[in-house]
Amino acid sequence: MSLHITDNADLSALNAFGVAARAQRLIELAHEADADQVVALAHTASRTLLLGAGSNLLFASDFDGTIVRITTRGRTILESGSVAERVQPPTVLVDAAAGEPWHEFVLWTLSQSLYGLENLALIPGSVGAAPVQNIGAYGVELREHVHSVEAISLDTGERQRIAAADCEFAYRSSRFRRSQAGSRWLILSVRFALSRTPCPRLTYPDLRTAFANRTEPPTPEQIADAVCAIRRRKLPDPAKLGNAGSFFRNPVISAARAQSLQAQYPQLPAYPDPSQPGQIKIAAAWLIERCGWKGVRRGDAGVHANHALVLVNHGSARGSDIAALAAEIRESVAAQFGVSLEPEVVIV
Ligand code: EPU
Repeated sequence: MSLHITDNADLSALNAFGVAARAQRLIELAHEADADQVVALAHTASRTLLLGAGSNLLFASDFDGTIVRITTRGRTILESGSVAERVQPPTVLVDAAAGEPWHEFVLWTLSQSLYGLENLALIPGSVGAAPVQNIGAYGVELREHVHSVEAISLDTGERQRIAAADCEFAYRSSRFRRSQAGSRWLILSVRFALSRTPCPRLTYPDLRTAFANRTEPPTPEQIADAVCAIRRRKLPDPAKLGNAGSFFRNPVISAARAQSLQAQYPQLPAYPDPSQPGQIKIAAAWLIERCGWKGVRRGDAGVHANHALVLVNHGSARGSDIAALAAEIRESVAAQFGVSLEPEVVIV
């Protein structure tokens, strides 16, 4: 038994907002071999929460139940054998354990000349959390590079390899996220389909600008560097200023509704959503900034001065202070634009 179990656990170092909170019990899953035992323990708890790097949640209060923190490590390139034979070259399958830190994993894939994840560099979080919300940035979504996910059902204890097509990926969502209230899955590892051939994706305006003066396409490493530079310029480092990235999703609305909003507000950034034909994604940051929230502070809870979609903890804000600020922002955007903002961050 190598499980690490703590009762009345302090969660303040385990969430990117850095808010004070405690859990009735915290179990660390560091070795995949212990997963069945952890699932059996979780099954007896009144409530269970799965935690990766804690970079996409807000503890609005203490957690009255068991938290399972997944810290398993390991990366394997499946270049030979029966699995790899079923994929078309130059695709290469790579397995990564759920507890691998995401950005380190992305850098490692590049060091192995495996391409596809470079636009997703520097996203905080773990490999296992990435499919839960189908992370995306700078023109690429995780789902484009997922082959399958290996997970255990918290309800039945059954292990399954779930093909990407069955993960119900959508903008910042998947069956793993939707299932949070119902049947639930503990993700053990993710199998990625990557490429030996670079395929630069420079559709996102910030990236197009970064490489505007070049005649040669940038290398995947240069794209990752540019993405890191853009992120560092716009988004606060959670190690220095507590935050969980975008607090709200960008609203996806009908084309007709977007047109009427843009007639009134011509500057409103709006993009077609390729995964939902006829639907338009509008920039939540713009709506929030326009309501006057950028840089606002309520005590130690605030809206970041460089990006209105990012709520921050300036020091000793409580989770409930940040949740209250989020509720105020949501109400003011609804009142001014008639648009409903949905949290991207999971509020516990
Ligand atoms: N904007 C404002 N005010 C601001 C910030 C941005 O008006 O304070 C405008 C910008 O001018 C731009 C538009 O809003 O036209 C979009 O801004 P940005 O390019 O920064 O992207 P975003 O839509 O705010 C999304 C993701 C980010 C991801 C970036 C880049 C969501 C919820 N967020 O942000 O993901 O890094 O695109 O692809 O989809 C995250 O999920 O935590 C996250 C940071």
